[in-house]
Amino acid sequence: MQKQTENEALIAAAREAAAHSYAPYSNFAVGAALRFADGSVVTGTNIENASYGLALCAETVAVAKAMAEGRRGGLTAVAVTGPGTDPITPCGRCRQVLNELAQLGRTDPAILCVGPQEIRTTTLSRLLPNAFGPASLD
Ligand code: THU
Repeated sequence: MQKQTENEALIAAAREAAAHSYAPYSNFAVGAALRFADGSVVTGTNIENASYGLALCAETVAVAKAMAEGRRGGLTAVAVTGPGTDPITPCGRCRQVLNELAQLGRTDPAILCVGPQEIRTTTLSRLLPNAFGPASLD
């Protein structure tokens, strides 16, 4: 698949995931989709809680799903969609959670921040420079 087609598919997967968002407190539905080197895609969406501070972000849910399936690296791209007019970037905690999976496979995934009009593309290392990760414990 061409990179552009792959990215369109990843964005569509993130949007579909956001349809399952459980966000009754913020009404802010976020979708995330992770692409792996083998072409597979794992999605996540935000899951809130009546104890507000326990909300799980979409990206963190996606990483947890992927790691629970046994993945330990190979993360090549991440798409994140939000409901607003501007693209959203992963929160600080999600950057760190994504970094764990990325560092395990020594990749620097592209991060596609998807808004209704605009897609801002960056990399995890730009969003989280000088990251602390598994290699830091060696
Ligand atoms: N949220 C995410 O899912 N990902 C982010 O990177 C930023 C914030 C969620 C958490 C909460 O459910 C809602 O968006 C509003 O903060």
